Amino acid sequence: MILKKDFLWGGATAANQYEGAWNVDGKGASIQDHCTSGSNTVPKRVTVEIEKDILYPSHEATDFYHHYKEDIALAADLGFKVFRMSINWTRIFPNGDDKEPNEAGLKFYKDVFKELKKYNIEPLVTISHYEMPYALVEKYNGWYSRGVIDIFMNYVETIFDSYKDLVKYWLTFNEINSAIMPAGAIMSLGTIKGYSGPVFEFEDNPQVRFQALHHQLLASAKTVALAHEKYKNFKVGCMNIFATTYPYTCKPEDVLQTQYENRKMNWLLADVQVRGYYPSYSKRFFEENGIKIRKQEDDEQILKAGKADFYTFSYYMSSCQTTNKDALKAEGNFIGGIKNPYLKASDWGWQIDPEGLRYALNEIYDRYQIPIMIVENGLGAFDKLEVDGSIHDYYRIDYLKHHIEAMKEAVKDGVDLMGYTPWGWVDVVSASTGEMAKRYGIVYVDKYDDGTGDLSRHKKDSYYWYKKVIASNGEDLSE
Ligand code: BG6
Repeated sequence: MILKKDFLWGGATAANQYEGAWNVDGKGASIQDHCTSGSNTVPKRVTVEIEKDILYPSHEATDFYHHYKEDIALAADLGFKVFRMSINWTRIFPNGDDKEPNEAGLKFYKDVFKELKKYNIEPLVTISHYEMPYALVEKYNGWYSRGVIDIFMNYVETIFDSYKDLVKYWLTFNEINSAIMPAGAIMSLGTIKGYSGPVFEFEDNPQVRFQALHHQLLASAKTVALAHEKYKNFKVGCMNIFATTYPYTCKPEDVLQTQYENRKMNWLLADVQVRGYYPSYSKRFFEENGIKIRKQEDDEQILKAGKADFYTFSYYMSSCQTTNKDALKAEGNFIGGIKNPYLKASDWGWQIDPEGLRYALNEIYDRYQIPIMIVENGLGAFDKLEVDGSIHDYYRIDYLKHHIEAMKEAVKDGVDLMGYTPWGWVDVVSASTGEMAKRYGIVYVDKYDDGTGDLSRHKKDSYYWYKKVIASNGEDLSE
């Protein structure tokens, strides 16, 4: 058998795209609750006020809040060992910085964790997955303010204490390196005080972005240190996008450009989270981009004391790099890059590259030598619900199958891989476009872009296939 006996098979979700019930039982608004729906051609918008008669997809999403028992029963039927989810900060602290937590919010997650325990499924909890309290955006310009670190730590202590007997695996910030790209300012950092407009057209300020990122890095390190000090059974991981990228040609300039992009996107923040200090190449990067990070005396010590226990990442696609300005650009998950003529792409233009996953796993493990987990992977596609309730998503099976094959090759290469949780295993709202039409699930949810749908769940063909894969611990990938 190639994979470990206790390999953590499961699926991944995030509260802002899945939970719904955005203002129910005392929950406050997060930044996503201020984002409208969009599509591949019409960008989603963020609005200061919640506008009337406009669809905000997070408000109902696919309603995990009222379907958690049903969904967890499906997870159990699939044989999940782990269930990746996130906690909505605003369900616990509606404004982010409230004095007392919202008891109803604390109870909801306790009920979810207990339900998972009933089936021996381990929760893997992302503490912050694009769910910044909107009140903190308006009051502090999000993570730009250093004061948000203490506010966040109060939230972390509250959930650590409340769930210490129910949760062992935690992740700090989802795709922390999304904010290496300008769009991360909205999705993750919340440094958009007063801004209404298209999410991807927000005017970028790298100085603000990297200062805010420094604060997130400190908060992430403090979270790890807190766990090590007070909750000895916890394991706290970091979470990055891994953007596999190849030189477009063997021209030395293209190779150097690829190295530069790799350092910037894949390693800069992960190096801080895993090694405990900013890498040597960051100095020149900051200087050349006019970034001057304000640090306090003990910051170095804080980063050093909070090194992640394990490394996790999302992987969807790859791209190429070149200095040739005329080369064709590729679409992607926050990531720029150039089209690779050897690869096909999804309907959203994300280039499909299973080998790039094997490459990623080896690169990461060679560098850090700590356990790794793939906590997001999958194909966003149009699915069709047939009249008999079936969904024939052979394209998704094909995608997942080849990525699992690649992951097994990486394990044979020597990578210490803990687990695999494909993204949005129950259909959720798309993060980049805010639409329902872009589905990743192996479970279909009857919910559509005009807000209609009865939220009923249906098993896709990939559901039955993945169940077999888990039962055989990844040995049987046949369709
Ligand atoms: C990652 C995020 O960027 O990719 C998820 O962590 C997101 O929140 C996923 O949903 C897929 O992206 P998208 O834009 O297709 O939903």
